[in-house]
Amino acid sequence: ADPEPVQDFCVAAVSKGADDQPTFPGFPCKPESTVVSNDFFFAGLSRSGAAAANDSPFGSAVTAGNVEAFPGLNTLGVSINRVDLAPGGVNPLHSHPRAAELVHVVSGEMLVGFISTAGKFYSKVVGEGESFVIPRGMVHFQYNTGGNSTARAVTVFNSQLPGVVAAAPSLFGAEPEIPDAVLAKSFQVDGEIIKLLKSKFRN
Ligand code: GLV
Ligand code: MN
Repeated sequence: ADPEPVQDFCVAAVSKGADDQPTFPGFPCKPESTVVSNDFFFAGLSRSGAAAANDSPFGSAVTAGNVEAFPGLNTLGVSINRVDLAPGGVNPLHSHPRAAELVHVVSGEMLVGFISTAGKFYSKVVGEGESFVIPRGMVHFQYNTGGNSTARAVTVFNSQLPGVVAAAPSLFGAEPEIPDAVLAKSFQVDGEIIKLLKSKFRN
């Protein structure tokens, strides 16, 4: 989904911070004279997210290996995440505006699903060594169906920075908040239900 590279690589000279927004496409390159092998190496997914998953109300932890964490990916059009699910945990409904996602289950088993623009729900229980693909932009999730076991997946994207729209937080946790009347009318429910949902997703 990203633009085609026009050079071998372009190791990002900066990681995205508060004041350094990415240029198009991606980030500025550092000079090749300063590029080292480690720029093409990333160990960030070797750390287990199991403890973080246990601590999370969703029972999940996503460790991102996008260009912000791994500057060598800049302009290469790929990235990788690690998803750890506690027993019964869910990586909650979300979408990626800039990439398809390949979900490869490394251990345990999980229900992986997405909803198409036709409103059809596609899903599959995916076991160790198996893969499922989420088309670009589709709302999706992973849910641990392996009983008392943890589950883990590696997810791979055709973008250096797929972006995440988290369904519930984007609607009920937006800053500033979306008016209750808009949400109540949109969801065809009482304002009290919207207030309850906002209380879960706003600090
Ligand atoms: C899983 O859905 C992920 O975005 O890594
Ligand atoms: Mn995803």
